[in-house]
Amino acid sequence: MLLKTVSSSSAALSLVSLHGGVKDVSPLLSSTNLRVSSGKSENLSVSVRATKDSTTDELSGVVFQPFEEVKKELDLVPTSAHVSLARQKYSDECESAINEQINVEYNLSYVYHAMYAYLDRDNVALKGLAKFFKESSVEEREHAEKLMEYQNKRGGKVKLQFIVAPLSEFEHVDKGDALYGMELALSLEKLVNEKLLNLHNVASKNGDVHLADFIESEFLTEQVEAIKKISEYVAQLRRVGKGHGTWHFNQMLLEQ
Ligand SMILES: [Fe+2]
Ligand SMILES: [Fe+2]
Repeated sequence: MLLKTVSSSSAALSLVSLHGGVKDVSPLLSSTNLRVSSGKSENLSVSVRATKDSTTDELSGVVFQPFEEVKKELDLVPTSAHVSLARQKYSDECESAINEQINVEYNLSYVYHAMYAYLDRDNVALKGLAKFFKESSVEEREHAEKLMEYQNKRGGKVKLQFIVAPLSEFEHVDKGDALYGMELALSLEKLVNEKLLNLHNVASKNGDVHLADFIESEFLTEQVEAIKKISEYVAQLRRVGKGHGTWHFNQMLLEQ
């Protein structure tokens, strides 16, 4: 066993055993000079300094006393069957903001479902676009469900709200239905992005790091990518025009 200084500036002292373990023994020693024999070959002279006001805890190395510190947490465990047991540092404001976002996602899902139903009509028959909006509708509903799962995970309560009835006709005299529908989708996705950023602000304002991270990792990147993709679709539909060009665009979506 030998004593060695760990850092010349702090004069901390470590005890190194033959088994390879290292233990900081600096607090156990008072200010003194030591001469330590390390065996046959060499002598080691070290100067050791320790603070004289070390507490008992410091001497024993205790930094966390679980049974002492958990007492106040035990007092906070709810006894009512109607109150979440898991809820911790989850503000009412964050809870309502999540419920609002669930409603936003459901509304979008409803609009896309209406567009699917319009595009799938026998006298419209843009099957590729219909498929795109049907899948988009399912995706928005999945977003709502992901938020519902999160609400429950944090101990909040999901409260569903009213959904506004969407349009049923998407014909537009100048643009045609495909371009009009895609421009509508682009505007809605940008609106949802703003709502997500507002939700992120609510999380930050309330110091809810977990919620902020959830929105960033699960929603914001995907939202930015969706806006880029739909913007490209709008640009392409503007190039090809309402008639034959839209048909080809529709076929492209059908084959994807
Ligand atoms: Fe969404
Ligand atoms: Fe979306």
